[in-house]
Amino acid sequence: MHIPVLLHEVIESLKCHPGMTIVDATTNGGGHAREIIQRIGPTGVFVGIDWDRGIIEQTERELRKEFSSYNQSLLKFVWSNYADIKQVFAKENITSVDAVLADLGFSSLQIDTPQRGMSFLREGPLDMRYDTSARVPAYEIVNSFSKDALADIIRAYGEERYARAIAERIVIERKKERIYTTRQLAELIERMVPSYKKGGIHPATRTFQALRIYVNGEFENIEALLRDAPSLVTPGGRLGIITFHSLEDKHVKHGFKELADKGMGRVITKKPIVPSESEIQNNVRARSAKLRVFEKI
Ligand SMILES: C[S@@+](CC[C@H](N)C(=O)[O-])C[C@H]1O[C@@H](n2cnc3c(N)ncnc32)[C@H](O)[C@@H]1O
Repeated sequence: MHIPVLLHEVIESLKCHPGMTIVDATTNGGGHAREIIQRIGPTGVFVGIDWDRGIIEQTERELRKEFSSYNQSLLKFVWSNYADIKQVFAKENITSVDAVLADLGFSSLQIDTPQRGMSFLREGPLDMRYDTSARVPAYEIVNSFSKDALADIIRAYGEERYARAIAERIVIERKKERIYTTRQLAELIERMVPSYKKGGIHPATRTFQALRIYVNGEFENIEALLRDAPSLVTPGGRLGIITFHSLEDKHVKHGFKELADKGMGRVITKKPIVPSESEIQNNVRARSAKLRVFEKI
């Protein structure tokens, strides 16, 4: 079960009301989508996108059932990378929308599925792809990239200070045995970064984050969304993006500033909107969430 973060804040920020056209670029299990569809009512148009085929197909089935009294042609579900939002619009014959939401990264549904290989706590193939038919899985990278390339990825996308040492260890260990599973990689890091400070993050957290970002081209995807989504939004319409770590947030913050500098609109959130204490108590995943909102002129 994935609990939507900052749900009330998203609904308020995107000014959801009956008859709007809204894109949820990261629909997942439909946590935000359900509420959005309810708010835009039977006359609104909802476009749900997700790069995870199994999840978007399942969510489409569930939401079509839940909203069976709505005109089904106004509910659209698309298996796609949100970086291709322009193509999605062209294919679905949509010319403009009132708001776009992107709630970045992975969901509980994905991290709790060992076969996805996103969790260092669960044994599974070291895959990490949202779309398992695209790009290459993390184990291919871990077993074939040079020490320097691995160190660069782990440092740049994980901000891991032991990046070089971890890359060196990977190269030594993979000569003995191919690194194919999540636990193989996690244990290798646990053995060399033992300082598991109380309350601190697991030593493999940053390396797993880095590989996931690299495998999926996450920053390129965010940049493409920031480049293409604003031109698809109607004047006065909004783009809301939720991030979960500082590197992601930096991309969105700078992206919104650049759009404002180009005169395309204004940043609504000078400071990001963060969850309340009570939301964090109910949903630990919310603790690092930040919502930034941009309004098109
Ligand atoms: C944090 S979850 C969204 C949760 C959802 N808002 C909810 O409350 O149920 C992020 C989702 O984004 C999807 N995703 C990640 N990168 C994507 C991309 N480039 N294009 C489309 N979907 C993507 C993932 O598959 C995942 O389902």
